[in-house]
Amino acid sequence: MENPITAQHGLKYDLKNAHDELKRLRHKHGGIYLIHQPVYLCVDPEVCKLILTKDFQYFGGRGASFDYKKNPLGQHLFNLEGEAWRNMRVKLTPTFTSGKMKQMFDTLLDCGIPMLERIDELVQQKKSLDIKEIVGCYTTDVIGSCAFGLECNSFKDPKSEFRKNGRILLSARPIFTIAIFLRFVMPSILKKIPVKFIPQDIEDFFVGAIKSVIDHRSSNNVYRNDFVQILLDMQEKSKADGQEPMTVMEIAAQSFVFFIAGFETSSTTMSFCLHELAFNQDVQDKLRNEIKKTMQENDGKLTYDGVMGMKYLDGVVNETLRKYPPLPMLFRKCDRDYTLKDTNTTLEAGTNVFISILGLHYDEEYYPNPEKFVPERFMDENKHSRPQYTHLPFGEGPRNCIGSRFGLMQTKTGLAMILNKFRVLPGPGETYKINFNPKITIMTKKGDLLLMAENL
Ligand code: HEM
Repeated sequence: MENPITAQHGLKYDLKNAHDELKRLRHKHGGIYLIHQPVYLCVDPEVCKLILTKDFQYFGGRGASFDYKKNPLGQHLFNLEGEAWRNMRVKLTPTFTSGKMKQMFDTLLDCGIPMLERIDELVQQKKSLDIKEIVGCYTTDVIGSCAFGLECNSFKDPKSEFRKNGRILLSARPIFTIAIFLRFVMPSILKKIPVKFIPQDIEDFFVGAIKSVIDHRSSNNVYRNDFVQILLDMQEKSKADGQEPMTVMEIAAQSFVFFIAGFETSSTTMSFCLHELAFNQDVQDKLRNEIKKTMQENDGKLTYDGVMGMKYLDGVVNETLRKYPPLPMLFRKCDRDYTLKDTNTTLEAGTNVFISILGLHYDEEYYPNPEKFVPERFMDENKHSRPQYTHLPFGEGPRNCIGSRFGLMQTKTGLAMILNKFRVLPGPGETYKINFNPKITIMTKKGDLLLMAENL
């Protein structure tokens, strides 16, 4: 049977202008083509709920198909499909409980100190802050420490291997663009071509880092509160229970995805948030008052409960994630034929499904005056006035972001540390409206994002 979505709609999706195009397409409920491949563009929050959660059994995968022999670091939670994904998700879920987050909180404070020192240096020199780079070093150090058990020293050592490799992996690499394109358009070819999507030297670096951490811990009886330890404990438990333990490569792959998925998403959120606060001084003052008050109640310290309990900070971060969701789109693949409720439209097995997070987040029906930065939208008295599934920065359902708690914790902690010490102002030549770099999957500003700061 011909897929009715294919037959009815032939909108062309211009990947170069993806962000703007998605907003435009948002209003045309239906499907698009990627070359010859039909894609169902889901725009109704009720249908999003069916696809992401209620009828998840039809849409369990993202349609990634890699040759894991050639790309062993690619066999991580984000890419895995079917049973392999389910087993890994069950194993990793206990890694992100609030108890585990609390144990890692001091590492975040430690990694924040060099960030404050760097900002202070620039304030003394009356120089502008390249904020993407500064918060990128902070989140690299946090994730490097928690996911690999290593001190990355991104501030002291600008050539730090972690920072350098992170930059390369998330830059607009042609090979990666081709991989994404093939993944949707010719997935069978992607599986067959002998291409390494992660350069060999970077793979060697990450696998070598994990191996040496594992060796160091076992020969010196070192125990730390971090992700590597949790993965190692799991390996031991599987051995004791007579189950197949994770291999070193599987452990390395999970640490790798925590690193890749964890540092840039939080650092772009922090930099866009500081940009908004620089242009909205009233919001910045209100937020700083909350931070100062919370610290006073905790003997002048930032604590895990203090940071996570701040309601206005939560509103500011959620509003930032609404305007600048790091991943502007969610992907799912239909595993078997699925008829959309109350319609005669059937998505055939193999149809890609796109959910435009950006489109939902800028829909005037749910967010009046969507360009305006209004943290009050996320206060208790307002947030229930919208339908569910209209705020999706972390996705939803069984395949949502497993690291959302950690991402929120590092973002909020870094912001609270900065705003407690400094006032941020727009940098030279910066305009309020941001131009995004369409070549990078994660929403990123084209060029630098500059701020000025003042000591309080
Ligand atoms: C502000 C921070 C972050 C944002 C906005 C974010 C966003 C997302 C989104 C949108 C997805 C796809 C969800 C879906 O398809 O429904 C995702 C998946 C994922 N994220 Fe995050 N993320 C963040 C931080 C993190 C951190 C800190 C980690 C790890 C430490 C992490 C690890 C992952 C993993 C492993 C997946 C794949 C989950 C699966 O397929 O089962 N993320 N994230």
